[in-house]
Amino acid sequence: MAQEIVVKEVPIEEAVKVNVSIVEFDEPYPKECFEERYKGKEKLIIAAYLGNQPAGYMVGYDKFGDGSFYCWMAGVNPKFRGKGVLKALMDYQENWAKKKGYKKIKIKTRNNRREMLAYLVKYGFWFTGVDPRPKIEDNRIMLEKDI
Ligand SMILES: CC(C)(COP(=O)(O)OP(=O)(O)OC[C@H]1O[C@@H](n2cnc3c(N)ncnc32)[C@H](O)[C@@H]1OP(=O)(O)O)[C@@H](O)C(=O)NCCC(=O)NCCS
Repeated sequence: MAQEIVVKEVPIEEAVKVNVSIVEFDEPYPKECFEERYKGKEKLIIAAYLGNQPAGYMVGYDKFGDGSFYCWMAGVNPKFRGKGVLKALMDYQENWAKKKGYKKIKIKTRNNRREMLAYLVKYGFWFTGVDPRPKIEDNRIMLEKDI
């Protein structure tokens, strides 16, 4: 039977700890970098646990003040991928944002984050723009979804 995934709101220190396990992020942000981003804004910091082990995290905040909630950072430890951890985090964030009165989730990701893009397409996000970079795989892709 699949292990239960438990998602909880956590202090930023816990998200920073999980962030270090995301091999794709070359220079993991220190705590201060996270705090600076969402200072003075409504935020959501969550972690997902599989058998009590922290498996993934997500940090979002009210970046635009336009009724959307911005999903800023997300990652799942490679040991726990493909088990629905991202899906559980996204579902939690979406329900939370809906309850808080937000109408959309916005997200920006890189062209080379293929698993993330696959999730976003499968689960109802629309492409809204591309911020081009010198290498096509580094292009930033903007997406959003009504909630
Ligand atoms: C993207 C990432 C968070 C996915 O986490 P995960 O827990 O393995 O994802 P899930 O198991 O919840 O899968 C959710 C959906 O994502 C997509 N997906 C995930 N892994 C995939 C893969 N290897 N190939 C294709 N699609 C994939 C699928 O649509 C999947 O839905 P399904 O199971 O209904 O088919 C993880 O790969 C990661 O941390 N990558 C590096 C960091 C990163 O890219 N972060 C996002 C930056 S914005």
